Amino acid sequence: TSSRRLTVVIFGATGDLAKKKLYPALYQLMLLGQLPRGDKIRIVGFGRRAVELQGFIKKQCANVKKDARLPFEDFASRLFFHGGGAYDKAPGFESLAVLLDELEQGLPTDRLFFLSVPPTVFGACAQHVSACCRAQAPKRWTRLIIEKPFGKDSDSFAELDASTSGSWSEDELFRIDHYLGKEVVLNLSTLRFANQLFEPTWNSKCIESVEITFKEDIGTQGRGGYFDGFGIIRDIMQNHLLQVLVLCAMEPPASDLPEDIQKAKVEVLKAMSIPSLDDAFLAQYTEDNFMSEPGYLEDPGVPDDSVTPTFAAIVLKINNERWKGVPFVVKAGKGLDERLAEVRVRYKSQPYNKLLVGPQAKNELVCRIQPDEALYLKTHTKKPGLEQEVEPTCMDMRYASTFGGSYLADAYERMFLNAAKGDSSLFVSSGELREAWRVFTPLLHAIDKTRPKPILYAFGERNPRGFRDWSLAHSGVKQRQSF
Ligand code: BG6
Repeated sequence: TSSRRLTVVIFGATGDLAKKKLYPALYQLMLLGQLPRGDKIRIVGFGRRAVELQGFIKKQCANVKKDARLPFEDFASRLFFHGGGAYDKAPGFESLAVLLDELEQGLPTDRLFFLSVPPTVFGACAQHVSACCRAQAPKRWTRLIIEKPFGKDSDSFAELDASTSGSWSEDELFRIDHYLGKEVVLNLSTLRFANQLFEPTWNSKCIESVEITFKEDIGTQGRGGYFDGFGIIRDIMQNHLLQVLVLCAMEPPASDLPEDIQKAKVEVLKAMSIPSLDDAFLAQYTEDNFMSEPGYLEDPGVPDDSVTPTFAAIVLKINNERWKGVPFVVKAGKGLDERLAEVRVRYKSQPYNKLLVGPQAKNELVCRIQPDEALYLKTHTKKPGLEQEVEPTCMDMRYASTFGGSYLADAYERMFLNAAKGDSSLFVSSGELREAWRVFTPLLHAIDKTRPKPILYAFGERNPRGFRDWSLAHSGVKQRQSF
């Protein structure tokens, strides 16, 4: 990828994602020699209004981690901006095509487009790019990376899908779920399929429950206007957590080719139960007890009577041989006590365990996605000494100490890189999204229609009140007290 000429175009270049993730990721990839440098690369930001380039670069590249090996000025000299007017009108794309031709000076160049635009203009934008801005030279590719939301339910997804599939083939489309680019998520398949220890016990015979948790210690932070139309289930669960669940639950794919991986993922989604309102716990955060953090309803843009959940937990079941009867408890919340994403696989205790450690004997494998990436296994160990005492212990593999000094790439770096390589194995296929929406649409429609009142929790709580009892009653899973 670093020897070919490449133009990257970011739609939504003045936005938050571009600032937080996209420009830093592109810098990093150039620094590491994974993308071309110098006059072989151009990065064009597209926004509705023209901007003053230096001011734009200063603002949108504020999060770039500068490194002497790539002077920032060298990176900045590859950045351009195009104020193209409305995203859903052709002229801005026609003028973009002229600019791209000019910048590329007629030399054969691949073109990678990144859509980070509101869902309302998503389809039109994809169509205009295809009609006006494809790479011209033979043997040069054109690819489109697209960022969620991929619709709000099955019907809106089908509409969105149709609006891209007319002008883009499946192998040109790269639908991002950035959780698939996180190091510990990438390791789930390795953990399962490269270690003889886990796969033979990875089933309902040995596993009691699987919990997949996402917690954030921040609220919507001014994104409330957007968030309110989606809610935590669409924002985090139907995409990120479901993808993690699928990687934990899928059958071994026939090969590591993207089509085989996607096939295995679709199959497990097809076997998934369809949750109803009765399977869901919904809550919303209020101001904290000391009133220093505003409640969800205080976020400008959120209607005063909003019942949109900022916390949700759902129990999912997978109706196949491997997972019969095993609850998958998926929970996601904003405005909680900590930032945490993890998978917790709880093993069943066996009769002979009890001889030594009593009925509480459970092994647990925890894959901590963030922060402080780690894998740890809760085991039982004889306490050193003359007495026969058994203690809960932990086999702990932290990425920071085990791979000390090795570089953990940000998820968006991997996304850009894999799209530039044409490797779609970490992207989400249209078939997966169809199934993911099939699983969640009935519940989401029931919430939109009946507007159930969420349980209120104060910003910064560990869990909303009542959640632990709910979890025990609905899944048999006792929420942890500590580690
Ligand atoms: C995004 C959600 O997809 O993921 C945000 O829209 C959320 O609401 C973010 O904050 C979390 O991503 P990460 O990588 O910080 O865990």
